[in-house]
Amino acid sequence: MCGIVGILGSGPVATDLVDALRRLEYRGYDSAGIATVENGHLQRRRAEGKLRNLETRLLTEPLSGRTGIGHTRWATHGRPVERNAHPHMTALVSVVHNGIIENYRELKAELTALGHTFETETDTEAVVHLVSDEMQKGLGPIEAVRVALGRLRGAFALGIIFAGHDDLMIAARQGSPLAIGHGTGEMYLGSDAIALAPFTDTITYLEEGDWAVLRRRGAEIFDKSGTRVERPLIKAVASSLLVDKGNHRHFMAKEIHEQPEVISHTLANYLDMAAGTVNFPALGLDLGGVTRVTVSACGTAYYAGLVGKYWIERYARVPVEIDVASEFRYREPPLGPGGLSVFVSQSGETADTLATLRYCKASGQRIVSVVNVRTSTIARESDAVLPTLAGPEIGVASTKAFTCQLSVLACFAIALGRARGAIGPEQEEELVKALTELPRHISTLLRNEDEYERLAHELSKARDVLYLGRGTSYPLALEGALKLKEISYIHAEGYAAGELKHGPIALIDENVPVIVVAPEDDLFEKTVSNMQEVAARGGQIILISDADPSKAGCKLAAHIRMPKAHQFANPLLYAVPIQLIAYHTAVFMGTDVDQPRNLAKSVTVE
Ligand code: G6P
Repeated sequence: MCGIVGILGSGPVATDLVDALRRLEYRGYDSAGIATVENGHLQRRRAEGKLRNLETRLLTEPLSGRTGIGHTRWATHGRPVERNAHPHMTALVSVVHNGIIENYRELKAELTALGHTFETETDTEAVVHLVSDEMQKGLGPIEAVRVALGRLRGAFALGIIFAGHDDLMIAARQGSPLAIGHGTGEMYLGSDAIALAPFTDTITYLEEGDWAVLRRRGAEIFDKSGTRVERPLIKAVASSLLVDKGNHRHFMAKEIHEQPEVISHTLANYLDMAAGTVNFPALGLDLGGVTRVTVSACGTAYYAGLVGKYWIERYARVPVEIDVASEFRYREPPLGPGGLSVFVSQSGETADTLATLRYCKASGQRIVSVVNVRTSTIARESDAVLPTLAGPEIGVASTKAFTCQLSVLACFAIALGRARGAIGPEQEEELVKALTELPRHISTLLRNEDEYERLAHELSKARDVLYLGRGTSYPLALEGALKLKEISYIHAEGYAAGELKHGPIALIDENVPVIVVAPEDDLFEKTVSNMQEVAARGGQIILISDADPSKAGCKLAAHIRMPKAHQFANPLLYAVPIQLIAYHTAVFMGTDVDQPRNLAKSVTVE
């Protein structure tokens, strides 16, 4: 979490640092700050809360200097107050940090005993004093950082500048991503290429354990052992750099509306639509020989994986084991040879997902990742990558990335089923056709949002909301509840419809809206029975279904009418109304839709 930037510029850098931070606010927005070298001295400005507070401060207290670093924070150690905001500094050195220094307590105790005074509750401050201490002992800045890095445990990306050194910045990466940007007589540093997009598209990604010395004329990169190394220059893809809201009020709305296009784009990458076949990239393994799949992910990506499990088991007839990445490896599951491990991640940087990937790799599994950011760590550490072509997703609540993940997993299930002989050519054509019709159905759905505005009015009064679903609609119920709670702050829970009577039914009364995701498929009748159990207890049912409402057999508070689609494709279609319900409820309640409190888009801490 947290976003970091650095610029060695040819002119004043404060404005550019803030511009770059704006593109990193998806990584956290508890506080923001910048520091520069001004006439040889380190100066900084910081502000609690969103970046706009820092901008306001800079209007009255501007900062000059051609060398600077910046930070936008998602608080881990220390409350989100200005005192704990980065950059942290002494008179000698200023540091921005993303990640966690795990041994900061012992470093702090040691440095305090040596006479250093700590002013914050952060782990980062230990780095500042460690480097300062080495410099006070007479080391130059580069040597001081080299020694300090050897003492740090944990995950971090660091950007460091020094008093009296206008043409020097040091970057270090261990466990958190970091990109160096190359300009003409200028150099940049950022948590990702998007941050650097206004300045350069020529990027070098630091690898695990790398650290780099940046000067305006270029960068020297060293690996963990201190050996000078060359890392490739990459041209960042222009489409991933364009970030604006278009004519939408929020990024989330824009991203919901982009779905027909990005799903088409993603499907086109894996399907031959004209031939009605999957056209899957070689994964460097014999799909026909796969007998067991494990899937791991976090948050919304986990729910996409859960839908994938239903598809792979039902259509490809391969058993799938799935768990949230934050638990998977702690179970120490025995993973036999020849297994396939699939990881799903929008950012490709989620710390728990990455740690699980490494666990599975060490257990001899073939690693395939479904990621949106192709240059991410998870992508780079995978044996094969199945990209989602969602484009940059800025809204913290994931929408288009989710449906693109579903698109890839659906194609994967068909490819696996075909390779194993579980799906014949006719069924393959039928399933491919079901997917290719999706963008049209979603466009139809997106043409009428009035009913969601009405519904938002009702839902905003609720204290608790339940979501129910069966089969592939169960993960959608979980995702629906997650979407609603994360952006509207209304407590919501998703349940497998059949589990209702084992506990949650106790919560139901006339004040609890129950949103039922129930396409008219082979499980519809059973879900109808569960709906009647809710109705009998006075619950307010909101049915999302293509079935005629009379088939519900009970009174409905609302019915979201869905187009008729193939059962296989329904999870992608039903994702849209659950996104719109959450979005319009949050807008109605006036919450910060794109940057909900306490959350961040990229979670690089475990
Ligand atoms: C955070 C985000 C979620 C996302 C999850 C996993 O919690 O707010 O939207 O689903 O992380 O992120 P990933 O980048 O791995 O998909």
